[in-house]
Amino acid sequence: MEKLSELKLPTVIQGGMGVGISNWRLARAVAETGQLGVVSGTALDRVLLRRLQDGDPGGHMRRALDHFPFPAMAARVRDKYYIAGGKAPAAAYANSAQFAKDMPREVSELLIVANFVEIWLAREGHSQAVGINYLEKVQPPHLASIYGSMLAGADYILMGAGIPLRVPGILDRYANHEPATYPLYVAGAKEGDDMTMRFVPRDFMEGDLPPLRRPWFLAIIASNTLAITMVKKANGRVDGFIIEGPTAGGHNAPPRGKLQVNDIGEPIYGERDVVDLPKMCELGLPFWLAGGYGSAEQVRAALAAGAAGVQVGTAFAFCAESGLRDDYKQAVLRQVADGTVRVFTDRLASPTGFPFKVVQLDGTVSDNELAEARHRICDLGYLREAYRTPEGAIDFRCASEPISLFLSKGGAIEETVGRKCVCNALMATVGHPQIRAGKHLEAGIITSGDDLTELKRFVPADGSAYHAADVVAVLLGGMLNSGDPVDLLPGEPHVTESSCD
Ligand SMILES: Cc1cc2nc3c(=O)[nH]c(=O)nc-3n(C[C@H](O)[C@H](O)[C@H](O)COP(=O)(O)O)c2cc1C
Repeated sequence: MEKLSELKLPTVIQGGMGVGISNWRLARAVAETGQLGVVSGTALDRVLLRRLQDGDPGGHMRRALDHFPFPAMAARVRDKYYIAGGKAPAAAYANSAQFAKDMPREVSELLIVANFVEIWLAREGHSQAVGINYLEKVQPPHLASIYGSMLAGADYILMGAGIPLRVPGILDRYANHEPATYPLYVAGAKEGDDMTMRFVPRDFMEGDLPPLRRPWFLAIIASNTLAITMVKKANGRVDGFIIEGPTAGGHNAPPRGKLQVNDIGEPIYGERDVVDLPKMCELGLPFWLAGGYGSAEQVRAALAAGAAGVQVGTAFAFCAESGLRDDYKQAVLRQVADGTVRVFTDRLASPTGFPFKVVQLDGTVSDNELAEARHRICDLGYLREAYRTPEGAIDFRCASEPISLFLSKGGAIEETVGRKCVCNALMATVGHPQIRAGKHLEAGIITSGDDLTELKRFVPADGSAYHAADVVAVLLGGMLNSGDPVDLLPGEPHVTESSCD
């Protein structure tokens, strides 16, 4: 069987950035340089339906829908949500039903279609590889989402924020359109409870299809133990790893051992959180380093340590092609330029309980007062936790939902302190804020790595925008000591040798 390590590998992986920051435009722009572009697979269902309700500027969603292999399903999604010219500014976005263990059919269809659309657009017009990133912890959508992305030919699946032991086997089964299952984590579950989610591709297919290509599977990890567990216990082939350190943007793995915080309440990481790279080499699988690798020097260091390359997020999050809305992008870049930008590792903000890095920017929910003033409502629900009700059913709760509701579901009051509605905020950050009562717009939240302060190296002297290709050129350019231009022609993967031995 073919091994990933025997193929040409990308030196730069543009990390998946949800919600909608690493969208199809960014992943395509990176892929066109010959490096790996990755779309975020988180919340794509609601992103698609909001883009359609915004009138689908440019017609991209509808173009991709026209290529979806099940036309009746695509038509159902388009007909229900597309609004020619866009919704009225004061009108709220229509929402789809919340996830459940046994997913409503309409939601599964939306997930399949939305994941297809994002990958299809990212792959349009070139022949380079494209990947998709999922958070393991957001479990209910996995089965339908992965099938949708495979229908569009996703080349890589990257998954972190949990232990994705049961994903590689799903890829093998979907390659032949066979049914797959996924175990839902349910707090308080008892032996004998049925926690298995099921997905049967043939229940959704509108005709026969040839087998699908099995994507390469990269697990995103923060410890050697987790890497070894994945290799030994996964239900199928793991093809490589992303090793993500605590300076990376987005959610971070919590520090190991007893929690210690600095004087502003950020978690402190220590020696135990450092991954042993020679030990990673022993596993014989390619790996990429993530978290503060946004410079040519860092890329060289990663290669010297045996990595196949690096995964970078922050530098791409603020480039012209990213989905981050423009006013936020400009405001942050101004702060970078004048040296006032600040990233806070917030232990409490995310209902996942993982530390979440938040850029401090007025008008976003990085402002605790603004976040506290928000009327609590949970209508997106990606970060809800499944729990067993006293009657033995499975329900969902979120520490950011109305407090009395959360408590009535057995949640603990301490859990609600400092929690923010990350789902609604992230949706606002990519330009699709929900509007409440015709006037109140949800505010956004920007996440970024600690490397944000270093972004100056990408911004042109005149302060104008920089592009994904500029980031790739900076990351790879330093490897050419002769000063030769970097060969980044579309269709020409730029490949470097790693040195594990
Ligand atoms: C805006 C933003 C959103 C992110 N969202 C995700 C995500 O949804 N899933 C994920 O696995 N990693 C996420 N990350 C982490 C990146 O994929 C990548 O590993 C990380 O940014 C690398 O470190 P750097 O930020 O120092 O470049 C995010 C990072 C950023 C900056």
